[in-house]
Amino acid sequence: MKALKLIFILFMTIDFNVYADKNEQLVTQGKGLYNQHCVMCHGASGAGDGPVGSNLSKKIQPFKKYSDKQIIDILNGGKKDVMPDYRATLTAEQKEAIAKYINSL
Ligand code: HEC
Repeated sequence: MKALKLIFILFMTIDFNVYADKNEQLVTQGKGLYNQHCVMCHGASGAGDGPVGSNLSKKIQPFKKYSDKQIIDILNGGKKDVMPDYRATLTAEQKEAIAKYINSL
């Protein structure tokens, strides 16, 4: 019984590490994508002060606190007239990666 418990604990630890690595990978991938697609408007720290963003008629606010899912929904809808819709231009994984990166800022 003790051995069984030990094996169980080992599995939990291994699983958790796999999850942490996957999450880190997504954040790294998200950073690259953010710098390619979003930084010019939203700025490096998400403060809304990118070179394009600063020249829009509507001032971009710093990111509010959103869940990953909410960010993905925003990307799928865009913002009328001021922000492109990324429904078709980014894959589901890319959108998840960007959401995780934003939430790591
Ligand atoms: C052309 C400039 C532009 C680009 C490029 C752009 N955005 Fe935006 N984004 C905006 C503007 C402007 C708003 C604010 C719209 C509003 O207030 O209704 C906004 C709003 C948002 C919001 C909601 C912010 C809030 O707190 O309400 C999120 C999240 C967001 N953008 C994420 C992204 C991500 C991620 C990318 C890259 C994939 C991106 N945006 C690319 C201009 C841009």
